[in-house]
Amino acid sequence: MRQHAPATERNREPILEVLLRVLPPWGTILEVSSGTGEHAAFFAPRLSPRKWLPSDPNPQARASIASWRTHSPSDNLYPPLDLDVRAPVWPVEAATLPEWLNRSDFDASPLVAIANINMIHIAPWSACLGLMAGAGRLLPPGGILYLYGPFKQGGEHTSPSNLAFDEALRSQDPDWGVRDLEDVVAAASTQYLTMLETYKMPANNLSVVFQKDSGIR
Ligand SMILES: C[S@@+](CC[C@H](N)C(=O)[O-])C[C@H]1O[C@@H](n2cnc3c(N)ncnc32)[C@H](O)[C@@H]1O
Repeated sequence: MRQHAPATERNREPILEVLLRVLPPWGTILEVSSGTGEHAAFFAPRLSPRKWLPSDPNPQARASIASWRTHSPSDNLYPPLDLDVRAPVWPVEAATLPEWLNRSDFDASPLVAIANINMIHIAPWSACLGLMAGAGRLLPPGGILYLYGPFKQGGEHTSPSNLAFDEALRSQDPDWGVRDLEDVVAAASTQYLTMLETYKMPANNLSVVFQKDSGIR
């Protein structure tokens, strides 16, 4: 049940360092595409008193996230949500929340940030657009969208290993591939999300931090 992705052990400390710098000090962080759930189990206790809400559309991933949650319990770690970012309404904005997600708890600790690690290149571009649309609908002004992964910059790969990774992804699925940071920033801006900062991360990855603005332009 508990799946293991070796990269999570290598990237979790550097990601945590950035999250501690950029996340609001309280509120709920929705993790989109939590995968194995190892990040959720690692980050939740280290980011308390914030609450961590993991999610994934894949039932096997959700089973693994639930298993990690049992293995490494943390009272600020929610069970996983079934969330596909392309859905026009996400479960956290639906009239009926999952029964374990108490409306008054959620209101007391509202959504202030969304974290998405290693998804937009391993999914069709529509997933990036869905992520931006959801972040645009759900984040309050000042809320944070955190992305982690490999990016092209100025149309160029930033390393030979990212080029090779991109080719491998595209041969697996032509709709996948390392995204151009400029395209991602443009998609974000249509949803009133402004890029605040990028951080160079190990293995030629980037952390990209967006902030929701007031929507008044
Ligand atoms: C490479 S894994 C990354 C998992 C984890 N964040 C990590 O870094 O180990 C990509 C994840 O994206 C999820 N995913 C793919 N398409 C998605 C979508 N449309 N909405 C939400 N998650 C999606 C997959 O189910 C998978 O768990």
